[in-house]
Amino acid sequence: MLKKFVDALPIMKTLRPTSYIQNVPFYEVTMQETFQQLHRDLPPTKVWGYNGQYPGPTFHVQRHQPIHVLWKNNLPYRHFLPIDTTVHGAEKNIPEVRTVVHLHGGVNPDTSDGYPEAWFTRDFQKVGPHFTNTLYTYPNHQPATILWYHDHAMGITRLNIYAGLAGMYVIHDREEARLNLPCGPFDIPLIIQDRSFHEDGRLLYPSEPNNQPSAPHPSVVPDFYGDTILVNGKVWPHLNVEPRRYRFRILNGSNTRFYRFTFSNGLPFIQIGTDQGLIETPIRVPSLLLAPAERADVIVDFSTSYGDSIVLGNEYESQREKPDPETTGTVMQFRVTHSLTCQDTSSIPAHLVPVPKLIQYQKTRTLRLNMRKDSYGRNIHLLDDRLWSEPVTEKPKLGQTEIWNLINETRDTHPIHLHLVRFQILDRQPFDRELLEKEKRIVPTGARVPPEWNEKGWKDTVRAQPGEITRIIIPFGPYPGLFVWHCHILEHEDYEMMRPYLVINK
Ligand code: C2O
Ligand code: CU
Ligand code: CU
Repeated sequence: MLKKFVDALPIMKTLRPTSYIQNVPFYEVTMQETFQQLHRDLPPTKVWGYNGQYPGPTFHVQRHQPIHVLWKNNLPYRHFLPIDTTVHGAEKNIPEVRTVVHLHGGVNPDTSDGYPEAWFTRDFQKVGPHFTNTLYTYPNHQPATILWYHDHAMGITRLNIYAGLAGMYVIHDREEARLNLPCGPFDIPLIIQDRSFHEDGRLLYPSEPNNQPSAPHPSVVPDFYGDTILVNGKVWPHLNVEPRRYRFRILNGSNTRFYRFTFSNGLPFIQIGTDQGLIETPIRVPSLLLAPAERADVIVDFSTSYGDSIVLGNEYESQREKPDPETTGTVMQFRVTHSLTCQDTSSIPAHLVPVPKLIQYQKTRTLRLNMRKDSYGRNIHLLDDRLWSEPVTEKPKLGQTEIWNLINETRDTHPIHLHLVRFQILDRQPFDRELLEKEKRIVPTGARVPPEWNEKGWKDTVRAQPGEITRIIIPFGPYPGLFVWHCHILEHEDYEMMRPYLVINK
């Protein structure tokens, strides 16, 4: 097994604009294959990275300052991970290596959103049916938060992200700057991902599900759990920290794995933000639960831990997976030094930003999260019992607010994500599974439970738990157009748990 905490935590480079087009910063980012050392004792591993870096370089942008990004694909023609050509959008007659970049959580027009069928191949030699332009514009009119950019190509998103195509995108604004939060070298992004390796250091991604001999080869798998945890692209790294306050922007960038982060010495997380920005007041939490694609903005105060070595662990348990403290139960190590290089003048304000509660709405939809078997006996996860290729059914009107009741009939928690919008979680409520199965009636069996304290801000991804109705309230806008909503377990997303939705300009 790989030795833990031998490598230092890498910090991704900051992207610089290559030029300005009428005062708008212009960035060019090229996807490239490269070999990167992911652990001291591993030979360099083949990965795909933005600008040849895994994870990709970090964007730092100012609110209201739009940017242009030209996303380019310079990847090989063959994929190095197993493609299932029975998956919609990944059929044999479609180019193997396709990419399209989505800025997760970004409030962007659909032409810059990275629709799964707006893919392009190397040098734009071939493009997908929804491809419109090569130059994306991000208006950045949203409050300070942590977004992330990642690949979204139809039918192979799980493989492209697993290969390394993901990076962070941080929006800054004046409201946040006024708060005097830890900044500069004390503001650190953490992208947490699980991976598995072959003996020779190659990335290992399974090519068929367990116990399903009739499945095609290669086959999509129902989920993926790696046995090794990487932070910012290094296996179980360590970070030297001073005895002071730090801000960590944590992203769960894993395919399937959920994490419940804890510190070995019981240090709390002081959460200040969720997916879509700061919350109203900082909240102390002993542990931090993140599903794939969720983010947490936290402050950790090491000031009383000088000289300690603290392990960031993972205690998330599900029916399918229990973390092993020797492997997936460990994330990284913090080594607290004895002294400060300069005084800590940061603060944790009692009040962060106002988050007005959404109450008014114009429409309610009830949408099932369900499952079916395919002709090989594999599970297909679905949104409201529909395949991706069926006509658009969710057509909210621009400027209107809707409540979506997500009825999770399956046995898994699905992190449900909507493009374009930010929303609030209203509550979760258990329902009677049997009555739904037999009589098609949705009958609650318990009270509506309000969201956790640290879920009370603006979100773009929500955990819909099995046997529960999860209610979210969503203002649709500010742009009309064609977007998608999906489960962010990438193996589900690729195998039909994704649907288009259309914001219509009445
Ligand atoms: Cu993280 Cu459809 O996106
Ligand atoms: Cu998204
Ligand atoms: Cu799912």
